[in-house]
Amino acid sequence: MIYLDNAATSFPKPEEVYRAVDKCLREYSANPGRSGHRMALRAGREIYETRELICKLFNIENPMQIIFTYNATDSLNLAIKGLLKRGDHVITSSMEHNSLIRPIKALEEIGVENTIVQCKEEGLIRVNELRSSIKDNTKLIALSHASNVAGTLMPIKAIGKIARAKNILLLLDAAQTAGVYRIDVKKMNIDLLAVPGHKGLMGPQGTGILYLRKGIELRHIKEGGTGSKSESLLQPEIIPDRYESGTPNTPGIVGLGAGIKFILDTGIDKIREHEEELTAYMLKKLKEIDKVKVYGIKNAKQQASVISINIGDLDSSEVSYILDKAFDIAVRSGLHCAPLAHKTLGTFEQGTVRFSMGYFNKKEDIDNAINAIKRICEEMD
Ligand code: ALA
Repeated sequence: MIYLDNAATSFPKPEEVYRAVDKCLREYSANPGRSGHRMALRAGREIYETRELICKLFNIENPMQIIFTYNATDSLNLAIKGLLKRGDHVITSSMEHNSLIRPIKALEEIGVENTIVQCKEEGLIRVNELRSSIKDNTKLIALSHASNVAGTLMPIKAIGKIARAKNILLLLDAAQTAGVYRIDVKKMNIDLLAVPGHKGLMGPQGTGILYLRKGIELRHIKEGGTGSKSESLLQPEIIPDRYESGTPNTPGIVGLGAGIKFILDTGIDKIREHEEELTAYMLKKLKEIDKVKVYGIKNAKQQASVISINIGDLDSSEVSYILDKAFDIAVRSGLHCAPLAHKTLGTFEQGTVRFSMGYFNKKEDIDNAINAIKRICEEMD
């Protein structure tokens, strides 16, 4: 199988990740932060080590500002629903995933206003339009770092500056960039950072992160056992416990730690350069095929390693089915849970066939994909 669906979840994982999960399950998968025996203490320590690795990767000072969640959707729901209240206004863009749009739209019911800034056809946000949609009650700008459909990288540094100058919080959805692009929460003025553990961070599914800048308080959207302040019937104030109820995904978090360690040891620039090289190569080869239409900015320096295409007016799901069945190539088709992004790109009806590269892909994977696309085009004649 040639796996080109890393935007959905990365595969394979580094060997270290498989080993770390296996070791945890066999040797110390007790309940961390609850019991006082050695195995439980070890589980707690290993989880803390993952918090420290996350801090290193994103330049976060305090490991206790990291909240473990189950995926980026979970992080975004906590951030958006925990922060916004009646009368607040939030700005987002037309390139967002439903994991960000749906919680925002759901809050309309309780009187939270929103503005969805229309992006350009290639997916880029119009910064001036974003700036002019700021109102007195704007509390939050919530955006993805890169589109999951076309890979378009958003000018987050510029937007972070605007947000800071206007005293508005910035929530960044780094689902398609964390582990590949440098993210520095201080330099980029990121107040809340939502990240899945199972994509670029190379950890197992069922892991996610929400970073919360010191001083920002969220309503907890779930309550339960935290292993702390057990005498109280109310959710404790201390973080991250306040937001982390119930037994955590210890094996997943330990595996995530191993994934981040792999990234830090390999070097994030090396990972990004490799992915950029594959993206540039594939874009160049696609350009040579008449029947293929590529969407987005079409520049490897301005997009994450995500390429969306269509072949003539063939149904995108049919193309991905053929790629899987006849060529053993895994991609994702359809609307990618991002209907507004497809409306922006002009692909709402047809959807797209999305190829997304990861660190373990090679040039020959791209050659195979290109040959398969050419064969499908030939069959159309
Ligand atoms: N958000 C993931 C994707 O784009 C699942 O495929």
